[in-house]
Amino acid sequence: MTSAASPDTGLIGRANFPHRHLLGIANLAPHEIRFLLDEAARWVALNRTESRKHDGRLAGLTQINAFFENSTRTLLSFEIAGKRLGADVVNMHAAQSSVKKGETLIDTAVTLNSMRADVIVIRHMSSGAVQLIADKVDCPVLNAGDGWHEHPTQGLLDALTIRRRKGGFEGLIVTICGDILHSRVARSNMLCLTALGCQVRVCAPPTLMPPAIERYRVTPFTDFDAALDGADVAMMLRIQNERMEGGFLPSSREYHMLYGLTPERLKRAKPDAIVMHPGPMNRGIEILSGVADDPARSAITEQVEMGVAVRMACLDVLTRGQRGIEGWA
Ligand code: CP
Repeated sequence: MTSAASPDTGLIGRANFPHRHLLGIANLAPHEIRFLLDEAARWVALNRTESRKHDGRLAGLTQINAFFENSTRTLLSFEIAGKRLGADVVNMHAAQSSVKKGETLIDTAVTLNSMRADVIVIRHMSSGAVQLIADKVDCPVLNAGDGWHEHPTQGLLDALTIRRRKGGFEGLIVTICGDILHSRVARSNMLCLTALGCQVRVCAPPTLMPPAIERYRVTPFTDFDAALDGADVAMMLRIQNERMEGGFLPSSREYHMLYGLTPERLKRAKPDAIVMHPGPMNRGIEILSGVADDPARSAITEQVEMGVAVRMACLDVLTRGQRGIEGWA
């Protein structure tokens, strides 16, 4: 695990990933996505060992996780990932920071930069905020979710989960159902899974479907039963009540009737179809517990596990230049 060469692709070092930051899947070529998945896959087995001790390759580096929006999975898995690699990890929660006193995003970025962070992980409620910070700092920046824009490590961990369960991507039918309009998870998954060869269907009420969605090379549906027909993967999205001002939905009950995943409805998908959800779940609204907790169908806990491996891979790859690894600038 110490070489910059990837045994999976045969390419050397930075040729695999010529990016300083990870801001979105939109910036990545298919071979770069596959490279990150291959790197992450190598961490999965090590994470399952009892000691979970790795080679400390990020020792001496300072990782700042600056979260301006709530998170459980992403924040904790970035923290665990950094610590497993030996980094000094510091978390900045906006609610307890000088952001609450009115400090601007750019002043916050300059402050983090002055502390000589070696890698910064940002979650922010505004689309484009992570790019703004990346433009102001001297170290790699990883997007942990910005507004409605992207959540690239979620897209990668979902792809890794699908590859482990299904053995590949080519021709797989993936149905993404829910609040497509407000979902950075949907956007990163549409970009990631179409790049890898999946047929992606997106399903939502008309009020929660972005205009011109076909530009993502996906097929839109408003009828969830039709969208599930013959699917290999049913990926359910959270109804984002915090972004729902303006009457997007008549009621949660009606939403569940039309778009909730139930054991009965899942029968429309392939018999071996898997169920995914990025979390946190609104049980009883977009998904029933009978599906979410069914070990034969649900990959939801595996998604969380893959999150640690993917974030380790991203932290490792993006800091290779700083660690003086040959071939990485
Ligand atoms: N999937 C996801 O981003 O979850 P958190 O909001 O808990 O990080």
